[in-house]
Amino acid sequence: MAVELTWYGHATWMISTDEHKVLLDPFFDDSPTAPIKAAEVEADFILVSHGHFDHIADVANIAKRTGAPVYAIYEIANWFSANHGIENATGMNIGGAIELPFGKLKMVPAVHSSGLPDGSYGGVAAGFLMKIGEKKLYFACDTALFSDMQLIGAVGLDVAVLPIGDLFTMGPDDSVTAIDLLKPKTVLPSHYNTWPPIEQDASSWAKLVKSRTKASPIVLNPGDSYTVE
Ligand code: NI
Ligand code: MN
Repeated sequence: MAVELTWYGHATWMISTDEHKVLLDPFFDDSPTAPIKAAEVEADFILVSHGHFDHIADVANIAKRTGAPVYAIYEIANWFSANHGIENATGMNIGGAIELPFGKLKMVPAVHSSGLPDGSYGGVAAGFLMKIGEKKLYFACDTALFSDMQLIGAVGLDVAVLPIGDLFTMGPDDSVTAIDLLKPKTVLPSHYNTWPPIEQDASSWAKLVKSRTKASPIVLNPGDSYTVE
């Protein structure tokens, strides 16, 4: 089964299979780099890594328009149900997995905070590990470098998507260490160049990855896609 990853800028990704569109951390209308608006987005499933505005801003409107079910940590799933009328929100927690029509989805640790925009408690931040057909994909989402990434990588990753923006997440140097721990075949950068404080030179990052790891770096422009090989 072909798996295609589309980067919509910032930390927003669409994971597309032949049959399903899985949207991660939708941030469109207020994102300076999103190439499309939330009203144009189709989704069959919506995944939420944590409660910060730049990851949840367009969850409710896309979920309502498309009817896509939302998967998030327990506290955030409840918050969407209670505050935004999202009936089809499933709470998960760290280490838990669920079989979904597109594949297996596991919520894995991330080292980051997760307060919701109104001050509500959002539980802890998460990353996602997915098995879609035979492909194994890891979305680190907002996180620092942490040594348990080697456990996540032990499944044998085809793809890792890592933040490189620094300031709020790991930066380029730590991402290289993360790649050493994760050992993915391919790595794509995320959570950078949205605003000046997280500006990074992605081509320098790609050179660094090539010179110091065995992974192939793939740098996308917002709106571009990569087909997982
Ligand atoms: Ni965040
Ligand atoms: Mn963020």
